[in-house]
Amino acid sequence: MCGIIGAITSKSVQADLLQGLKNMEYRGYDSAGICTIDGMQLAVSKAAGKLVNLAGDLEKKEHTGVIGIGHTRWATHGEPTVENAHPHCSGNIAVVHNGIIENHIGLRRKLETHGMRFVSDTDTEVIPALLSKLLKQEPDMEHVMPVLLSQLEGAYALGILNVETSDVLWFARKGSPLLLARGSRGYYIASDGLAVAGVATEMLYLNEGEWGCISQHGVRVFNQEGCEMSDHTWQRMPQLSASTDKCGYEHFMLKEIHEQPSIMTDIMTTYASKRGVQFPNVAWLNDAVLPERIVMVACGTSYHAALTARYWLERYLQVPVEVDVASEYRYRNPIIGSNTWLITLSQSGETADTLEALRLFKRRTPDNRTLAICNVASSSLVRESDGFIALKAGVEIGVASTKAYTAQLAVLALLAMKLAVRSGSMSEQVWQEHYQSMCHLEVDMNETLKCVPDIQSLTPLFANIHGVLFLGRGPSFPLALEGALKLKEISYLHAEGYAAGEMKHGPIALIDAQLPVVIIAPKQYHLDKVISSLHEVKARGAKVILLTDVSMDDYSDEVEKIIPLPTGDYFTAPLLASIPLQLLAYEVAKFKGTDIDQPRNLAKSVTVE
Ligand code: M6R
Repeated sequence: MCGIIGAITSKSVQADLLQGLKNMEYRGYDSAGICTIDGMQLAVSKAAGKLVNLAGDLEKKEHTGVIGIGHTRWATHGEPTVENAHPHCSGNIAVVHNGIIENHIGLRRKLETHGMRFVSDTDTEVIPALLSKLLKQEPDMEHVMPVLLSQLEGAYALGILNVETSDVLWFARKGSPLLLARGSRGYYIASDGLAVAGVATEMLYLNEGEWGCISQHGVRVFNQEGCEMSDHTWQRMPQLSASTDKCGYEHFMLKEIHEQPSIMTDIMTTYASKRGVQFPNVAWLNDAVLPERIVMVACGTSYHAALTARYWLERYLQVPVEVDVASEYRYRNPIIGSNTWLITLSQSGETADTLEALRLFKRRTPDNRTLAICNVASSSLVRESDGFIALKAGVEIGVASTKAYTAQLAVLALLAMKLAVRSGSMSEQVWQEHYQSMCHLEVDMNETLKCVPDIQSLTPLFANIHGVLFLGRGPSFPLALEGALKLKEISYLHAEGYAAGEMKHGPIALIDAQLPVVIIAPKQYHLDKVISSLHEVKARGAKVILLTDVSMDDYSDEVEKIIPLPTGDYFTAPLLASIPLQLLAYEVAKFKGTDIDQPRNLAKSVTVE
């Protein structure tokens, strides 16, 4: 959700800003801009559309300043135009912003009565305008920054230039992620470590409410109360740059789909052995009193992983499991008893709703435990939770989540197995069987990837249709939701996932020859009942694609295609069926010619509400 970067270095910052924006383009890609201080003046370049447009402009008009800020935008207020692109300026001030200023209308009205004029539709533009006004009364930035921040409601990560203080770059963070970084050439601010991979060697995460400035000589950080912090815990930059290469694949999404088999082995060798499962960052999972209830909260694809895990946990651990989308959980009145664990799931660890759900849970029941299952070790979600299980999926660039999803499923399966063994509800023999089946995932997933030609042959079926229905039962039901979400996200076709048993309660009305139906039918999850649904949709003229791990040759005349799956067990079956669903979304999107890695209107990390 928008990426910001700022740099103050010993040479022109243009290249560092542009590279940083390129590395963060997954956060938003509808417009971009940079501002530097060139010869004691603000020099601004902005372009609508992908970053490549800005890069083209910069080839013609180079910025020479050694201090600058940059922004890649995911529009919240105002269309993706040049006027609405960041940085936004007022007088000597330029600002880049990630987040939403909720009181921007009131501030704008007030500033207009003081003669300030606005050129964009954004919420952000009030920030430079307000700061310019405040600086007229008190020119000292260090005094004015807390006054400015006290008037902004909502969420922000800010990078600010002031021509009057041209040797420092100001920043602030509340509700949106921001880090400081340093390298041999100078100091940086960024929404994400990826932005400064390659130029920085160390980074420092900012806490909620912190603000300050960077210069060529160091950093100054103040807390929410205005006290300057003297100790800074700099961390070594993780190796992030290599993963941003497509490695010969046409799209990041395709590369990430193909990475899944080896990720499964990484997860197994890191967390499991014949003797059991160990999560090194969460020692309390070994000895804490087992929970009487588990709450799982997440958004989008991560929510779908949680829904599947509910079946596993309830069956094997035998405790009630409540799963909710974070945006609902945080605004209802959840009744949280004692000895309840919260498990949050997130690829990015910066999803605003999931973070707020975690904070609500902690405020209400500080004695309960919180566990983050997340792909980004340095994220806010991980830092604010009592325990953390790393997904080991590597950087996920494609906006449509694939490998982080199956990594979540694999980690959740191991967690369910571990807790079930601890509780005594899973015998040693059953554990060994599931362990073996999990160990076989790399081989089985590689087998599944062989379905590409079959999937490609199906794409014409998706022309001139009015929607797609995905059906499954048990742990395959959330998979149906995920299959539909993936297809929607990148092919822009309307798709719905349904519990197969619910089909006759409404969606059956939609069925005709222009509504392909994808049926997920592993033998583990009520196969006979799912096959009844197949007959019902078939009787109404639907074209059916059947994913199954049993021999169904008798049905080959009835369905458009059977996609064979390797035999899975109660845990591995959904992992194996995920791959054909991801490939289906990918191939249909390719057939339709959409922008697969950066689909319209979406962003990888949803850091605003
Ligand atoms: O980073 P998170 O896992 O918290 O993100 C949650 C959703 O925004 C995310 O899964 C979204 O639905 C993806 N675009 C799915 O492909």
